[in-house]
Amino acid sequence: MLVLGLETSCDETGVALYDTSAGLLAHALHSQVAMHAQYGGVVPELASRDHIRRILPLCEKVLADAHRKLSELDAIAYTEGPGLAGALLVGASVGASLGFALGKPALGIHHLEGHLLSPLLAHPAPDFPFVALLVSGGHSQLMAVAGVGEYRLLGETLDDAAGEAFDKTAKLLGLAYPGGPLLSKLAETGDPRRFTLPRPMLHSGNLDMSFSGLKTAVLTLVQQRGGAHAIDGRTKADIARAFQEAMVDVLVAKSLAALAETGERQLVVAGGVGANKQLREQLTRAVLTRGGELFYPPLEFCTDNGAMIALAGALRMQHLPVARPDSARAASSFTIRPRWDLEEIGIAVRS
Ligand code: KG4
Ligand code: ZN
Repeated sequence: MLVLGLETSCDETGVALYDTSAGLLAHALHSQVAMHAQYGGVVPELASRDHIRRILPLCEKVLADAHRKLSELDAIAYTEGPGLAGALLVGASVGASLGFALGKPALGIHHLEGHLLSPLLAHPAPDFPFVALLVSGGHSQLMAVAGVGEYRLLGETLDDAAGEAFDKTAKLLGLAYPGGPLLSKLAETGDPRRFTLPRPMLHSGNLDMSFSGLKTAVLTLVQQRGGAHAIDGRTKADIARAFQEAMVDVLVAKSLAALAETGERQLVVAGGVGANKQLREQLTRAVLTRGGELFYPPLEFCTDNGAMIALAGALRMQHLPVARPDSARAASSFTIRPRWDLEEIGIAVRS
């Protein structure tokens, strides 16, 4: 079964072709980072317009790279939410239109389900059931994953998402957009002993997290020194390191607690913060020491991409009953959900 995946929820246009027997055949990504950089963050209207410009050429490229034709597709999967409304509309309208034209199902995929399943793109891949640590720009959650569409929330951040905390802290230190990767690079050169920041909710007794206090602690350090512009490079690196140490400690502790609580031994890490080197190293050490197994998506599929959406669509087609469009009206209508809880998708499937 051949599935085309379209991801347009934020500032990356991702397109991929996934085959249920051969695996990922081709994928292409256009990042809008350079376009948004001058504004210090994502400008939604510019994001939507750029998705419109990129999506069809990327579809053509992916089909050409895989030597496949549109007529060979069995389904189209697009990100239905959560994300920026205008950006989501681009992938959803292209996906639904293609489905309508080809008479094939067009599936709206939850963006986080894509992230959650993305470690299945790795070799070796985990088997169900597993625990997933989902750490992206908008979410920080621990989920028990029993199978495709069977997700139970174990704990989540009560305020800022992990990626959001990375980005906001980077801004406090005067780093350019996008802050997360830059902050983590800077942290690599920092001294972990110079500053100690709080580990919020480390001993809360549950699997919830909180990161806004950590960001405020950095703000205090910056203000005490007269602002980011007054801080020398070495001190900035040391603060970045202290922030990353605290963040990683909390994520590792909560992940281990989630494994203990569920009795699972496989942990998968997904979402943009999963690209963080220190998080990967510390989690690997901690999980292996306890006899568990750790799985990550390949680095390029940690952040937003079309491959995870094509994969999620293919798995839904395989494992969950999908009704084929039975009328022109049903096939030509689609929804987007800018706000959407992952737990809401249950095992429900739309076509
Ligand atoms: O999953 P993703 O690409 O988009 C969302 O769905 O949010 O995640 C983006 C987030 C951003 O907040 C970014 O700063 C963060 O992931 N991120 C990182 C790293 N690479 C990306 N955070 C820490 N270390 C990194 N290496
Ligand atoms: Zn994402």
